[in-house]
Amino acid sequence: MSDIAKRNAAVAALEHVRPGMILGLGTGSTAAIFVRLLAERVAAGLDVRGVPTSEATHSLAQELGVVCLSPDEAFRIDLTVDGADEFDPELRLVKGGGAALLREKIIAEASDRMIVITDAGKEVARLGRFALPIEINPFGAELTRRRIHALIGSVGLAEAQSAWRLTGQGERLTTDGGHYILDLSCGVIPDPDGLAVVLDRVPGVVEHGLFIGLADLVIVGEIAGARTLARV
Ligand code: A5P
Repeated sequence: MSDIAKRNAAVAALEHVRPGMILGLGTGSTAAIFVRLLAERVAAGLDVRGVPTSEATHSLAQELGVVCLSPDEAFRIDLTVDGADEFDPELRLVKGGGAALLREKIIAEASDRMIVITDAGKEVARLGRFALPIEINPFGAELTRRRIHALIGSVGLAEAQSAWRLTGQGERLTTDGGHYILDLSCGVIPDPDGLAVVLDRVPGVVEHGLFIGLADLVIVGEIAGARTLARV
């Protein structure tokens, strides 16, 4: 996705921001552009506060002068603006490419509204092209991985492959919360809602990257402007 398209999506999302709002601040390169644009407005006098979804976003927002609250300090979150790795016609999302899915989902669930900023390259008829990130507790992580594979055949994913996400140094990546990320390559997810139910039942799964019923709008950035899709 070009930076122009990302910026156009972020600019369109900014139109939904009102003075006094408490904003969930997403993670990833598109969300970072939104935070930069928001910071410009804050510098010009806009009164908003942010609840970041990752340490990276927290550092960026603070550095740019956006006042940040911890989730427990925020008595409400009016709107969350975040990126995504994929979305389908029902505005179901795959998220977690930036390994922040747990905090992103906690904040999205707690928000009155969620706006996703993205580009047409992430629009799919059926989810699954992007490997589904699953955040796993390190205790018994291989057991949890085996349990996932034993169960997902019931939702048409007997052939799915998985891999632990690694750092650039080849070590197992740990999230801000100290968990691992298992990337589940599905090809196509025949039943995203069913898969979410199955994964929610596995004890070692901390969270998964299927965001269902959370995005109110998806703003698709293009080279000349943006188009907005609403969940029906
Ligand atoms: C972070 O964990 C992800 O959910 C991101 O929102 C997603 O990977 C999109 O990132 P980009 O905006 O960098 O594509």
